[in-house]
Amino acid sequence: MGKKTVFSGVQPSGALTIGNYIGAIKRWVPLQEKYDCYYSIVDQHAITVPQEAKDLRKNTLDIIALLMACGIDPKKSTLFIQSHVTEHAELAWVLNSITYMGQLNRMTQFKDKSKRSDENLNAALFTYPVLMAADILLYKTDLVPVGDDQKQHLELARDLAERFNSRYSDTFTVPEPLIDKSGARIMSLQDPTVKMSKSDSDENAYILILDDEAAIKRKIKRAVTDSVGEIAYSDDQPGIKNLINIYSNFSGDTVEDIVQRYKGRGYGDFKKDLEEVVVEALRPIRESFEEIRSDKSYLEEVYREGAKEASYSAMKVLRKVHKKIGFIPR
Ligand code: AMP
Ligand code: TRP
Repeated sequence: MGKKTVFSGVQPSGALTIGNYIGAIKRWVPLQEKYDCYYSIVDQHAITVPQEAKDLRKNTLDIIALLMACGIDPKKSTLFIQSHVTEHAELAWVLNSITYMGQLNRMTQFKDKSKRSDENLNAALFTYPVLMAADILLYKTDLVPVGDDQKQHLELARDLAERFNSRYSDTFTVPEPLIDKSGARIMSLQDPTVKMSKSDSDENAYILILDDEAAIKRKIKRAVTDSVGEIAYSDDQPGIKNLINIYSNFSGDTVEDIVQRYKGRGYGDFKKDLEEVVVEALRPIRESFEEIRSDKSYLEEVYREGAKEASYSAMKVLRKVHKKIGFIPR
C-alpha cells in the first residue's frame, strides 16, 4: 500500500485571512510528512467572480509565496497553479454531464453568492462545485483538508465519484473530508454570526496573514464582544468564543486552559494577550513571505515543476475516464 493522497485548493481572490490560515493552510503543513499532498492555487475557481487581470496575476504569485512562507514545502508537496494543468477543466466537463441541476441548485454557497449579487450571474459560478470535484478526483484523492464551509461541495465530489464508478466501473477514489473542530470556522470580528471572509466590505472584520502589527492590534481591539463580561467558551458569547478559538489555534493552548487562565479577568486583559499571540505567530510568516516573493525565478521554478508533476498523475486518470465514456484515444 502506498501513501494516501491529499488534495486541497485555495483561491487567489485577494489576500488570505487568518480564517484561511487556521481552517486550511496551517493544517496542510503537517500532512506533508505522511501523505502525498497536492496543493493548488485555483485560479479557474477565482474567475467565477469578476477579477482584474493584473490583480489575479499578482494574487496568484502572492499566494504561492505565502503558502511556502506558511510551511508548504515544494520538495515534499506538489504545489501548482490549477490552470497550468488542463486536465482539471477537461474532467470538469465530463463530470458536468453526470451532475444534476437540482444538486447544484441546492449548494448553499451558490445561493448565498447569487443572493448578494444583483448583476447577471455567470454559469461558471453555478458549476463551480463540479470543477472542485474534478480537482479532487483527478488525483485519486483520499483526504481533503478544508474548512467547514466546503463540506457540501465535498459531498458532491463523493456523490459524483460514486455515480461515475457505478455507471462505468470503478475509476475514482471516493474522498473523505478532513475538517477540524475548533478551527473549522473562524468568524468575522465584527459579526461573529458570519464567517471571516476576505471579501467582507469591512476590513475590521478580518485579520490578514500579512497584516502588520498595528493593523492586527487595532482589529483585535475593535473586535465585537458582549456585555456579559466573563471569558467563557459558550454559544451565548459568540464573539468571545471566536477570539478564544483564535487564541487557541495560534498559541497551541487548549480552550480549557485559556478559559481557566482568564477566569475573573476582563476582556481588555484577554485581548491584549491575544494581540501578542497573533502578532508573534504571524511575524515569521510575513518575514519569510517577503523573501520568497522577491525571488521571481525561484517562484517560477516551483510552479513549473509542480505543474509537471501534477499533470503526470492527472493525465493518467483523465485518459482512463475518456476511454470509459467512449472517447476515441488520440
Ligand atoms: P477560499 O478563501 O474560499 O479559497 O478558502 C480557502 C480555504 O480556507 C478553504 O478550505 C476554506 O474552507 C477555508 N476557510 C475560508 N474561510 C474560513 C474561515 N473563516 N474559517 C475557517 N476556514 C476558512
Ligand atoms: N472551493 C474551495 C474554496 O473556495 C477551493 C477549492 C477549489 C478546493 N478546489 C478545491 C478546496 C479542491 C479543496 C479541494 O475554498
